[in-house]
Amino acid sequence: MKQFSVIPVIKMMDTVEEFTKEYSMDKKDLVFVSGSVYKRFGSLLSREGIHIVNFANYPKGEPTDLLVEGICKEIAGIDYDRVIAIGGGTVIDVAKLFSLEKVSPVVDLFQKKIPAIRSKKLVLIPTTCGTGSEVTNISILELTTINSKFGLAVDELYADEAVLIPELVKDIPLKFFATSAIDALIHSIESYTSPKANAFTQAYSLQAMSMILKGFQAVAKGGDEAKRRLAGNFLYASCMAGIAFGNAGCAAVHAMSYPLGATHHVPHGEANYAMFTGVYKTYQAIDPDGAIKDLNAFLADILSCESDQIYVAIEALLDQILPKKALHEYGVTQEELVTYTETVMTQQTRLMNNNYVELDGETVMEIYQSLF
Ligand SMILES: [Fe+2]
Repeated sequence: MKQFSVIPVIKMMDTVEEFTKEYSMDKKDLVFVSGSVYKRFGSLLSREGIHIVNFANYPKGEPTDLLVEGICKEIAGIDYDRVIAIGGGTVIDVAKLFSLEKVSPVVDLFQKKIPAIRSKKLVLIPTTCGTGSEVTNISILELTTINSKFGLAVDELYADEAVLIPELVKDIPLKFFATSAIDALIHSIESYTSPKANAFTQAYSLQAMSMILKGFQAVAKGGDEAKRRLAGNFLYASCMAGIAFGNAGCAAVHAMSYPLGATHHVPHGEANYAMFTGVYKTYQAIDPDGAIKDLNAFLADILSCESDQIYVAIEALLDQILPKKALHEYGVTQEELVTYTETVMTQQTRLMNNNYVELDGETVMEIYQSLF
């Protein structure tokens, strides 16, 4: 039975300039960038007639099938043999698709009516320290034709290389940094307690947790300067957490956060944080003696507290970086909690299958109520 895999070669470089020199880019490269990367590094990337897909030219927000079809039109007739993506989760998730032989109609690709055949090299460079998408085989799009988020997870979407460049994350605003790093922390924790976890995945989970929490302790004291100094550590950690959840999966925290994110436009990491302690306190109450016991002891050691105080201690630390809100503060209503619970139980089974203990609809509703 498969235990573990890390497909991309992982590299670290100090600057984007160093990357462009090492990768000898030419017009056979198709480059995908976020608007902010284009502003800062566009001139460095666009030499030699290289075509750049700049996401600033497309509507902001979560990636959709319409965005992918728009890019298909933009690049029609361009001959390329390597895709390079520099950006956040949206840029990377979309760019992955363009390493395939046939992308459009993308709805058919996602519904597996057309096969995913890999035909181009793929190099992914994250500009956040959260999603870990540079090392996973998943692309998530909102399919407007069926009005739902849909994930395509096939090995053809693994990058050949993931390149970590601390220069790209040093300057992200503290709040944006916090939401993405909290997402990575939750990837490491959910993958640790997943029934699919094993000694390989847990080693990555634990290292990521340790680096992120120690990094948060430094940022809580040193603010922006500490964030800049530790940017490389956070990139390592989010990549390691990506490897852990790419193999062992995420679970209820992610599943329960999706409806909040979708209905009240709460950033992904923040929506996860809103669910995190509610889910883990419930796990703890149902089965305190499994993997959660080791997890709590590990976290208590980093946070210098007793094992039974770790959720209080984590919140006390994270609140200094991103204050936690109750669900009603986002405008969530009691009626919505019923819909959220239904959505989680019927549409998020892929994630709910990775829960530390089984959670039924009644328990999910109780967790939402406790966080209300
Ligand atoms: Fe996530």
